[in-house]
Amino acid sequence: MSTLLHILSQKFQTAILSAFPEWDPNTPLPLEISQSTQAQFGHYQCNSAMKLAKVLGAKPRDIATRIIEHVDVNLEGIRLIEKMEIAGPGFINITLDPAYLSQKLHRILLDSHLDIELPQHKQKIIVEFSSPNTAKELHVGHLRSTIIGDSLARLFEFLGHDVLRLNHIGDWGTAFGMLIAYMKQKTPHVLDGTEKTDLQHLVQWYKKSKERFDSDADFKKTSQLEVVALQGGDPAALKAWEIICDISRKAYQEIYDLLDVKIIERGESYYNPMLADTVADLEAKGLVTLSDGAKCIFLEGFQNREGASLPLMVQKSDGGYNYDTTDMAAIRQRTLEEKADRIIYVTDAGQSLHFQMIFQAAEKAHYLDASKVRVDHVPFGLVLGSDGKKFRTRSGETERLIDLLLAAVKHADQLLIERSPEMPKEEREKLAKTLGIAAVKYADLACNRTGDYTFSYERMLRFEGNTAAFLMYAYVRVAGIKRKINPALKIEELKDPIVLEHPSEISLAVHLAQFEEALEQVASDLLPNRLTEYLYGLAEKFNAFFRDCRVEGSPQQNSRLQICEIVAKTMKQGLSILGVQTVERM
Ligand code: ARG
Repeated sequence: MSTLLHILSQKFQTAILSAFPEWDPNTPLPLEISQSTQAQFGHYQCNSAMKLAKVLGAKPRDIATRIIEHVDVNLEGIRLIEKMEIAGPGFINITLDPAYLSQKLHRILLDSHLDIELPQHKQKIIVEFSSPNTAKELHVGHLRSTIIGDSLARLFEFLGHDVLRLNHIGDWGTAFGMLIAYMKQKTPHVLDGTEKTDLQHLVQWYKKSKERFDSDADFKKTSQLEVVALQGGDPAALKAWEIICDISRKAYQEIYDLLDVKIIERGESYYNPMLADTVADLEAKGLVTLSDGAKCIFLEGFQNREGASLPLMVQKSDGGYNYDTTDMAAIRQRTLEEKADRIIYVTDAGQSLHFQMIFQAAEKAHYLDASKVRVDHVPFGLVLGSDGKKFRTRSGETERLIDLLLAAVKHADQLLIERSPEMPKEEREKLAKTLGIAAVKYADLACNRTGDYTFSYERMLRFEGNTAAFLMYAYVRVAGIKRKINPALKIEELKDPIVLEHPSEISLAVHLAQFEEALEQVASDLLPNRLTEYLYGLAEKFNAFFRDCRVEGSPQQNSRLQICEIVAKTMKQGLSILGVQTVERM
C-alpha cells in the first residue's frame, strides 16, 4: 500500500533508527504517525518523541530535533515534505509539499483506479449479509444488514479482492412443517402451482398455522409428520417447500433490485447435508458434552444471567439440528472448502454472543485458524422511530421494507417538485428514485453502525449537512462547471501542470490524496461511517475551494479544472462504494 500514512511511517522509522543507533532492535519502535486534525498542526503528526524520550532518558524536544534532522524529505526525486515543526512537548507537525501533491493528483487523474494499487495477493473474502427468513418479510434490521453488507462487499471488490456475497436465508427448519400442513389443507392450489400468491399472504398463513399448531393437537401431529417428510426428502413436501421459498425469494428480489444489491442465495438449507457429519466430527474431536440429552459444546467465558455455563447446542435431544449446528457447518465449509481468507457476518448486535461462541468453537474444532483467517461479526444497532422507540409504521405493525423504500422515493419526489417545479416529470421521477434510495442508504451508513439510529425521511433528504443529497450535489456542481466551460473538453488530456497555491486548494489536494487511507481504515475496522465522513469532508473542502478559487476564466483554469475532475472521480467512486449513484444534474 502506498498511502501517505505508510510512506511517512516508513520515512520516520528509518529516520529514528538512524538518529538513535543505540536503540535496542529487539524493542518495538513506538512509531506514531497520524493525520492532523487541524490545519495549524500541518497535514500529519509524528508523536513518537515523547515515548522515545522515556526509554532513551532524554528531553522529548531534543529527540524530535534529532528525528527531523534524519528525515529524508524527498520521495523518488520529488519533494514530499515541505516543512517539519516541533510543537508542544515534542510533537512533530509535518506539512506536505505542493510538488508532491501535484504529482499525486496527476496520477489519480490519469488512473482509472485512482492510483490505488491492487493487492499482490488477492484475498477471498466472504461477506454474509441481508439474510432474511423465508415466509417472513424483510424488516428494517435486514435493511441495515443489506446496506452495510453491500457497502463492505463493494469496498473489497474495489480494493481488488475476490468477494463472495452470501445471503444466509433462514429457509430451513421445523417451522416449515406447520406452514406446509396448513397450506395443504387451506390453499392446495398454491402448492400444486395452479394458484399464484405473494409473500404477504404467506406471512398470514404462517401466523395462522402457528396459532393452530399451538391450539390443535391433531394439527400439531400432522405438522410434525410434515417435518419428518421434508427432512426425509419426500418429493411432495420438498415441492411445497420450494414453492414457499420461491414466493419469498420474489419479494426479496424486488427489494434487492430497488436497492441495486447483488447477492447470492445460500440459505441454511444449503448446509443441511453437512450437519450430521459436522456433529459427528465435533464429537470425534471430543468437544461435545451431553446435557439433558442434547449435544452441547461448552466454551470458556460464556454464561447466562444466572451465571450458569451457556453452551452451543449442536443437536437437540429429539435429534434435530438448529441454528448453531448450521453455523458450525457453514464456517467449516467456508474455511475448508471455500478457502476464505476473511469472513464477515453482518447482523444485528443481538447476535454478538452467538457469533463469539461460533468463532471460539470453530477454533477449537480446527475449522478456523484465527492467525490465518480473519472472522468478524459486524454488529449494528436498532432503527428507531421519531418517538425513540423501535421503528414501526402507524398501524403498529413492523414496517414492510418495500413500503418504507417506496415512501422514501415519494418523499424525494415531493421535495423535487418544491425545489425544481420546472423539471420534466419523467426526469424528476427518475431522479427521485435515485435520491430516495441514496438517502436511505447514506443515512444508515453515516452513523456509527454500533449505535441505534433514528429514521427520519425529512432529515435524510436534506440538501445541507452530512446527507446523500449534499454529496451528490457536489458532484453535480463539478459536472455543471465542465458543461459551462466546454462540454467536449477531455480533462485528462490537458497538459497544464496542476498548480497548488491557495490554502483551500492545498487543503483539498491533501484530502484527495487521502482517499486510499479512508478506504484502508474501513477495510480494517469495518465502519462505513469513516468513508461517509471522508466524503462529507471532501464536499466541504471542495465547496471552500470553489468559493476561494475561481475556475472559469481564471489564469489557473486548466489546473483547477483538473482538480475539479479529481474531486468528481473521487466522489463518484466513494459514493459507489456506499452503493449510492451519482447524477449529472439535480
Ligand atoms: N436469518 C437470521 C435473522 O434473520 C440472520 C442470519 C445470520 N447469519 C448467520 N450465519 N447466522 O436473524
